[in-house]
Amino acid sequence: MSELRLRVSRTTDLTPTVRRFVLQDPGGCALPAYEPGAHIVVTTPAGHKRSYSLVDPGGARPREYVVCVRRGSGGRGGSGSMHDDVAVGTELVVSAPANRFPLRPSPRYLFIAGGIGITPIRAMLHRLRAGGRTGVQLLYLTRSAEETPFLEEFAGPEDTVHHSAERGPLDLWPYLAAPDDDVRIYCCGPAPLMRAVQALTAHWRMSRIHMEEFAAPLGGMSSPFTAVWAPDGRRVEVPAHLSLLAALRRGGVLVASSCEAGVCGTCRLAVLDGEVEHRDSVLTEGERLSNVVACVSRARSAEIVVGPCDDEGAA
Ligand code: FES
Repeated sequence: MSELRLRVSRTTDLTPTVRRFVLQDPGGCALPAYEPGAHIVVTTPAGHKRSYSLVDPGGARPREYVVCVRRGSGGRGGSGSMHDDVAVGTELVVSAPANRFPLRPSPRYLFIAGGIGITPIRAMLHRLRAGGRTGVQLLYLTRSAEETPFLEEFAGPEDTVHHSAERGPLDLWPYLAAPDDDVRIYCCGPAPLMRAVQALTAHWRMSRIHMEEFAAPLGGMSSPFTAVWAPDGRRVEVPAHLSLLAALRRGGVLVASSCEAGVCGTCRLAVLDGEVEHRDSVLTEGERLSNVVACVSRARSAEIVVGPCDDEGAA
């Protein structure tokens, strides 16, 4: 993954917990191109690697990358470091943009955003609506108006902004009951919203449904398996609710990690035997033949034999 060193040129608090960061090349050069749905991986001053969607629609020679970071409730960590340690003038190492949530052509769209999940969807809406296009519907679900980034932008006739603190959860079924091959659905938000949309669109053609999963893989589909640590033959049970990374650590194998979301590659291990269900966003197809990203990926087979990669250590 190629890396850039960019300078923070502006910050803005969009809500009490969401801050917008504008990143530019220190020499004023244009940045690598990107399209709506793209993200960058930012190394925070505290050393965490975090994936953030680019909130602007992008194009061929952007002058800046703009990301929004919601401060997590868990104190320090990646978002805490972004809020506490980054100011105008701070230089950050970021990856070149990548896109695993690309905007595909369609006669019409239904976008469903939950909270900070608006970020990639805002980029798509701006791109689609720039030419006055209609048939681009938004459902934007947040707790309250105060906690809604970009609220003022989404007051059009095709926008529904729903605040659960005032009105309870929104019933999505009326929007999803009738499958329509002329509509693409894009959903980004917390896992419960994603699971709900998945369940409510089970009767839709799969190719019409697009989910952004950068925070963590969707749960509910994991099976237990056994991991064998090749250097000493130690056997570690990996229950359905634990990641391979967490289970190895519990078994005394110390594997380094950073993002714990399958985007940075720090926890990559060699696979010596067994079949892997890859859930990461970092390995190439070639690397997937012999590697596993332990924080998110799992075994398809009952047993998997893993060990340190040649270029990375684990003890
Ligand atoms: S810790 Fe970043 S991919 Fe696993």
